[in-house]
Amino acid sequence: METLEGLNRTHECGTLRKSEVGQEVTVCGWVSRRRDHGGLIFVDLRDRSGYVQIVYDEAAMTEGTFHKAESLRSEFVIAVCGKVRARSEDTVNPKMETGDIEIVCSELRILNKAKTPPFYIQDNLDVDEMLRLRYRFLDLRRPEMQKNIMLRHRVAKIMRDYFDRNGFLEIETPMLCKSTPEGARDFLVPSRLNPGNFYALPQSPQIYKQILMVAGFEKYFQIVRCFRDEDLRADRQPEFTQLDIEMSFIDQETILTMMEGMMQEIFDKSLGVQLKTPFLRMTWDDAMARFGSDKPDLRFGMELMDISEHLKGSSFKVFESVLQAGGQVKAIKVDGYANIPRRELDGLVEYVQGYGAKGLAWIQYAEDGIKSPFKKFYGDDTFEAVRKACHAETGDLLLVVADQPLVVAQALGALRLEMGRRRNLIDPDALCFLWVIDFPMFEYNDEEKRWKAMHHPFTAPRDEDIQYLKTDPGRVKANAYDMVLNGVEIGGGSLRIYNSDLQEQVFEAIGLTPETAHAKFGFMMDAFQYGTPPHGGLAFGLDRLIMLMAKRNSIRDVIAFPKTQSASDAMAHAPSEVEEKQLQELSIRLAASAKKK
Ligand code: AMO
Ligand code: AMP
Repeated sequence: METLEGLNRTHECGTLRKSEVGQEVTVCGWVSRRRDHGGLIFVDLRDRSGYVQIVYDEAAMTEGTFHKAESLRSEFVIAVCGKVRARSEDTVNPKMETGDIEIVCSELRILNKAKTPPFYIQDNLDVDEMLRLRYRFLDLRRPEMQKNIMLRHRVAKIMRDYFDRNGFLEIETPMLCKSTPEGARDFLVPSRLNPGNFYALPQSPQIYKQILMVAGFEKYFQIVRCFRDEDLRADRQPEFTQLDIEMSFIDQETILTMMEGMMQEIFDKSLGVQLKTPFLRMTWDDAMARFGSDKPDLRFGMELMDISEHLKGSSFKVFESVLQAGGQVKAIKVDGYANIPRRELDGLVEYVQGYGAKGLAWIQYAEDGIKSPFKKFYGDDTFEAVRKACHAETGDLLLVVADQPLVVAQALGALRLEMGRRRNLIDPDALCFLWVIDFPMFEYNDEEKRWKAMHHPFTAPRDEDIQYLKTDPGRVKANAYDMVLNGVEIGGGSLRIYNSDLQEQVFEAIGLTPETAHAKFGFMMDAFQYGTPPHGGLAFGLDRLIMLMAKRNSIRDVIAFPKTQSASDAMAHAPSEVEEKQLQELSIRLAASAKKK
């Protein structure tokens, strides 16, 4: 193997252009592709910046060098000295950014060999993701992955600059803390010095950032790792990164505007995309009623329509029993799909059942007449009235669910997204931002038979709703907001409670006695008695934002070393067993079921 001794890298591969023709250059990188044409060898050399073609011409170099070129294999690490020359017109490669030129090698050094990689180092790879995660160092070498990680760096840098310019301080908060009430399960860390005691890794810096407001820092932000032991999905990781923000002496509008400004700057400076502000604001009630979701994807229409009025008072038991019980009948319209195959309809029934609906009905306004499972229960005038109400035309399909409002929203909201995808209604280049505002303060937890804070219990209820805290918690709306992009919740936050009495009322509403509240958040409640400014904030999911900016479907593609679906690190093999001695030091004994068989 050779060294770089005496060589100076002069250029990055992907930056060479016609302007460098005639120059002697030195480049370094990985062999991406080698094509052998007898006395002529071509190598595409790759570094972080891109590719350049190297030419090894047997006639123009020493025998030793050419021989070395013949031994090159994929992913060998080499340094090349040579002259840049323009390619002849018929060999120009318009697909390569450096396709106008090539380097004629005069000196080649093989700095390192490489084993044959288990997959090609190229974009649009079609291999099992487990293999990519196991060989993450190779996966990350692929240009599209490098671009994602570079975008992530760029966005974080723009965020820091934006907040610095606007008077925010980046302040670190502990990783070993007391558990915060974000609602997911905590990752626990045993304390050696305090046997039997545990730290929790932060689910978010929520309490610390509020205490920083009590401490008088006024404007805080942090790009910070958060940990939540929850079931994983494409947009969920057990450790993920938040852009976390808190401000004092502000109202909701100030926060939203400040965040819109940040989004504009990020999209402008990293992607050259201009965003229009202010973003649309939609109440939670509207979002649920119209889109069946608290994170509506506004890239297409197909809104939910309430057709209860037209269908009530019939002998069709399915609808009538739902309506009698205070439920509703709602529909979505799929344009031009009245001739949907019966088999697909049957599949859709199962689909909505997966989201809690008891069934699915439909109206097909077909050329040859109306088809519907409830046709015999209503007259033509009813189908005509529904058609009018839904602006349906001949050829259109209505999909109908009857149930309690939350179930209808869940099932029809999911069905809307599914039909949007199937009918190709979603423009992949559209960017639909909105704020969902006026969230309910509480949601009822059926399992535990009690109200829970929908965001977190430090969220301030709307002033006009405080009167219902005791009598009708379901009616209380919060000063809480989420930023949604293309149907993904990318951020959320709230104005906070800064008055101890109100805080106690909210704890009481979620069934926390003053004693338990004190045991859990005593340090915070203490701090709040020493002059707490009105404050509020929010946190963005950085991974999700970058995922959407990079047009990926999974946040794993924008995290250098993500965890698998089963929360393990496939490359480093974490989590793993530890030495008995380590456990002893921590005063931990494993249950028999956890021991190795
Ligand atoms: P919240 O719990 O809504 O709010 O989290 C804020 C944002 O973080 C992202 N996010 C996740 N991303 C990847 N993997 C996960 N497991 C995950 N969980 C959440 C989402 C979400 O919008 N302390 C409050 C904020 C506040 O009130 O200021 C909080 O953490 O994009
Ligand atoms: P059934 O009386 O259960 O056979 O249902 C008659 C029709 O109504 C079938 O097409 C069902 O799929 C449909 N249906 C049943 N429950 C619901 C519901 N909750 N919402 C909409 N349609 C339903």
